[in-house]
Amino acid sequence: MKTNGVETVTHDVLIFGTGLAGLRAAVEIARKAKDTINMALISKVQIQRPHSVCAEGGTAAVLREEEGDSLDLHAWDTVKGSDFLADQDVVYRFVELAPQEMLLLEHWGIPWSRFPSGRIMQRAFGGHTFNRSCMAQDKTGFFEVQTLHDTLMKYRNFSRYDEFFATSILYKDGAFAGITGIDMATGKYMVIRGKALLIASGGLGTLYGFTTYSQTVSGDGHAIAYRAGINLEDIEFMQFHPTGLIPNGILMTEACRAEGGYLKDNTGARIMEKYAPKMMELAPRDIVSRSEMTEIKEGRGFSRPDGLDYIHLDLTHLGADKINKVLPLIREVCIKFIGLDPILEPIPIRPVAHYSMGGVEADINGATSMRGVWAAGEVAAHSLHGANRLGSNSTTECLVYGGITGGEIVKYMQSGPPILDVPQEQVKSDYKRIYEDLFQKKGKENLYDIKRELRETMDQYAGVFRTGDEMNAGLKKIKELKERFKDIYITDRGSVYNTNLTNAMEVENLLDLAEILVIGAIIREESRGGHARYDFPSRDDEKWLKHTLATYTEKGPKFSYKPVTITKWKPVERKY
Ligand code: FUM
Repeated sequence: MKTNGVETVTHDVLIFGTGLAGLRAAVEIARKAKDTINMALISKVQIQRPHSVCAEGGTAAVLREEEGDSLDLHAWDTVKGSDFLADQDVVYRFVELAPQEMLLLEHWGIPWSRFPSGRIMQRAFGGHTFNRSCMAQDKTGFFEVQTLHDTLMKYRNFSRYDEFFATSILYKDGAFAGITGIDMATGKYMVIRGKALLIASGGLGTLYGFTTYSQTVSGDGHAIAYRAGINLEDIEFMQFHPTGLIPNGILMTEACRAEGGYLKDNTGARIMEKYAPKMMELAPRDIVSRSEMTEIKEGRGFSRPDGLDYIHLDLTHLGADKINKVLPLIREVCIKFIGLDPILEPIPIRPVAHYSMGGVEADINGATSMRGVWAAGEVAAHSLHGANRLGSNSTTECLVYGGITGGEIVKYMQSGPPILDVPQEQVKSDYKRIYEDLFQKKGKENLYDIKRELRETMDQYAGVFRTGDEMNAGLKKIKELKERFKDIYITDRGSVYNTNLTNAMEVENLLDLAEILVIGAIIREESRGGHARYDFPSRDDEKWLKHTLATYTEKGPKFSYKPVTITKWKPVERKY
């Protein structure tokens, strides 16, 4: 159907993003509502190619209480790992629901790795004091996505919008009405109406040049939520994973260290002895990444002419059998991408942009401030991970919050919400922004230069260690890039798969998010978790035990703060 000349389709529920969180929510909606709720599954890529397939090492859940693990222990590890910025009520709900998610996947047929007893194999992971990361070799995310996809295929009441680029959220009087976007295969601009929306669009990591993220991950969900008036929370907290492969940043899973790998300096000494004598290589990521950068800065790393100085991840003592059995992907990637066999030689690695702790502000049920809109997965900030997420808690979060938000959406649908009229002014303004402004641009600036410079800027000025002066220099550069963006040219004049146009919108999204990240980080004068400052090296609970909120205004982000929920554990010094 066309409304005011724009192709318009209507569904009950829209799920934007079909990675782990989106698929899990879709399954929950389908099974709870017995396939009576009609869903639109909207993805920028194809349904089976979300970035979640790149999750490698594991999914954390308490399954062995008889052997000493407990919900309390998982919750405490998560809170301590978060540098005490996690909301403890949210953490508790998360750890309570995690085990049942593993069993659901088990029933749905995931090929977990198993102990000889047949029980699900669980490995150690950084910051966890019990081996609780359920694993499917080192391809856990891939198998989880396939299992959820296969499970969803048992149901019928959904339509797929693959390769659909979402451009805005439509709303009326604070309630959700639909989204706009482009069907990339045809170039058709469309409205997809619905009564409820789940934003499950993943992270924003291609803000950085050296990153583990797929190139498709560009914070689109964050950006359209923000422009529709939903706050972004804690965006300054970026996680740098300790082991990104040199020179391309591909994830060398933490499971390498869980299986016994060492981090070594240029003399062959294990670096973590100095920084985390108890947990060593399996300290939380913020601590390991800071340690690696200190080693590199103080001259104990290995240098490279391109500046990607590194240290060694040494697996050679693990032996071929173990590596082939539990880390086959790591071996394959090292051989294929850099011609190095980790059975024989140490792997060159350094900290790499990997995960955004912040995101779209959502409550303990995943609800955002807009009626009818929920958020789950990496795009969401339920205040679960605080300032530093523990490894293998993110796939769990996708599953747990996919389940929670799916259930909440079913309840909402049962309350009989109306389908709202399409707010035509918003559609017109979005259409105008894209086709009468962006698409017409014939300026002098190359979009791809702007993107490259933005990512270099973030690598240089908003990395593992930050200072006020450097971040101010970075912010100046971001503002300059925003100005230059106004003068780009779009060379592709076609409509079919016009990635030149959608790339421009991605860069526009990334520029907004970079500004929010850097300003939030400049204002936060302390070091906590993924935000470490040389000029404010300590955590400052008196001033900064609070979440950052960024609100959209036409002049730029406006910042405010909200308290952290502490139910059980007062902040203490973190020692590992
Ligand atoms: O190292 C990894 O396998 C990454 C896991 C995670 O980010 O949770």
